[in-house]
Amino acid sequence: MKTYRRKFLKRAGYTTLSSLLMMGCFQKEKEKDNHSMDAAMANYKNINTSSPLRQLAATKGKLYGTAISSEFLQKEPDYAKLIARECSIVTPNGELKWNATEPQPGNFTFELADAIADFCQKHNIALHGHTLFWHIGNPDWVSYPPTLKILERHVKGVMGHYRNSPVLKSWDIANEIIADSEQETDNPYGLRKGVKPELIRDLFLIAASVDSSKEFYLNDFAIEGATWKSAHFLKMVEYLKNSGVKIDRAGIQSHLWFSTNYPFDEKGFSNVLKRLKDLEVKPVITELDIIIDTPLPNSIQKLDRMVANSYKQYLDLCFAAGVDTVITWGLSDRHTWIRHPDWMPKKFKDNPAFHKFLRPLPFDENLQPKLARNAIAQALQQATPSVRRK
Ligand code: G3I
Repeated sequence: MKTYRRKFLKRAGYTTLSSLLMMGCFQKEKEKDNHSMDAAMANYKNINTSSPLRQLAATKGKLYGTAISSEFLQKEPDYAKLIARECSIVTPNGELKWNATEPQPGNFTFELADAIADFCQKHNIALHGHTLFWHIGNPDWVSYPPTLKILERHVKGVMGHYRNSPVLKSWDIANEIIADSEQETDNPYGLRKGVKPELIRDLFLIAASVDSSKEFYLNDFAIEGATWKSAHFLKMVEYLKNSGVKIDRAGIQSHLWFSTNYPFDEKGFSNVLKRLKDLEVKPVITELDIIIDTPLPNSIQKLDRMVANSYKQYLDLCFAAGVDTVITWGLSDRHTWIRHPDWMPKKFKDNPAFHKFLRPLPFDENLQPKLARNAIAQALQQATPSVRRK
């Protein structure tokens, strides 16, 4: 039987748009892998395999959910059925991004996002709004950063549309505003070039003036440890709190990479969560998925077990710190963004034999539960209850 050790925090290269600082865990294996899936399953004993994750989460006052796509919702009934069964919260994958909601200046369109909102209402699912401000996913006519005037019209148009929505409960007011490294910022807050802290403050103020009944998030990646990004993310949260604006939650995306070659920075991540607690900003896991970095194991069974163990280790830490909401960035490996040619990391893209090892989500391509699903279930079952979220 293998055991896994913790490790790491590391930079992973991406083929497009950004490179992500990520983290991971686990431990070198010495034994040969001749474990069957059944043996792997034995690692997760006494798990409730029949109850949906949303139900297991609800018994602990928590929410579990996924990123959701209107395209698949429409085309794949089995996908829609699985989300309705397993999820109590969803985040639109792209339907609320600027290029979807305001493709032409001042012309708003919500057809796709509304289809998701209707689905949520039908199945009693909370909708998380993603996102009002991002450096990606903008129509060509929007510069980054946009002027305050253009931003104000956008926020009023989009938030205003959902002001009376019974399902939309929260917004990523700003997404990924912290630069990827010290070299890519021009200000002491570590914001992307050209972004001023006052603009972000004003964005939160405008949002509050449109609809302060929702929860407001600042959302970012590569903050799951003691990183340059997490230090600057916390600095911005502190700035926003000190500016007196409404900021309820910190979205910790959690696109994680785990490898035998580097450890999960548990201490650093615990300190991030502690600092957020001190600032009275609740953490939410908004985009969780787990990639196993090289060296890759010699079987899919082993890979799935590594992914599952990583989920368990990460969620145990989150739940111990009081996290009450976990959203995975997709439910099944059929739809994971990381397999899309725009986003597949270079080292995987360059090695077609590696593609099948991109299995970062709790259900497989056939929407069957994987060991990672059981790991999430077990972490939920063992979690200390939260004050119920609605
Ligand atoms: O809409 C077209 C579709 O018509 C076409 O058939 C298909 C062919 O590949 O492409 C579709 O567009 C893609 C779109 O996702 C919808 O699937 C784009 O090419 C693709 O670049 C776009 O990527 C999304 C990306 O954000 C940019 O919006 C990913 O799916 C989505 O997972 C990703 O999500 C981000 C979060 O918003 C923020 N945090 C990181 C996360 C992962 O990058």
